[in-house]
Amino acid sequence: MGEAKEKILIIYHSQSGNTRKMAEAVAEGVKGAGSIPVLKLAGDADLTDLLDADALIIGTPEYFGYMAGMVKDFFDRIYERGLKEQKLFRKPYSLFVSAGNDGTGAKNSVERICIGLRLKKVQEVIISKGSPNESVLMALREMGMAVALGVKEGIF
Ligand SMILES: Cc1cc2nc3c(=O)[nH]c(=O)nc-3n(C[C@H](O)[C@H](O)[C@H](O)COP(=O)(O)O)c2cc1C
Repeated sequence: MGEAKEKILIIYHSQSGNTRKMAEAVAEGVKGAGSIPVLKLAGDADLTDLLDADALIIGTPEYFGYMAGMVKDFFDRIYERGLKEQKLFRKPYSLFVSAGNDGTGAKNSVERICIGLRLKKVQEVIISKGSPNESVLMALREMGMAVALGVKEGIF
């Protein structure tokens, strides 16, 4: 049965590699569910990537109490046209944050924009401090798997 596989877009930004390691763990989880992870730097992603995907998973470091500038740049570039797209309405999304010691500013800043875009939050946010440890990476694999399976089973 040649059923189309679900595509999960994972966009992230990372300077010192912490968020990248987290994004890679999410991608492993998506693969584990039999779906296709589309892993992109936020700076390389655009609205077409989002429209092509069945769900969005965002990863950002916290920089100055906010999401990374490159993740904000992604939202800046897609927001106005995205709002006009029926296909974004209630599209499932989830979020993970890498921070030095906090992370709530980055979390709140992304969540606010996603509400504006009318995306649907389907998982609890994962915030990791510093280099992600094995239990964080496990939770991120589970996030990727849960989002992919939720799409596949049509439960979102
Ligand atoms: C420019 C800059 C600003 C930062 N601001 C914060 C901050 O406001 N709060 C915080 O908890 N950590 C802050 N950090 C620490 C990073 O969030 C943390 O090192 C994170 O793991 C970096 O992720 P990355 O390796 O994916 O770039 C900052 C780091 C940089 C480089």
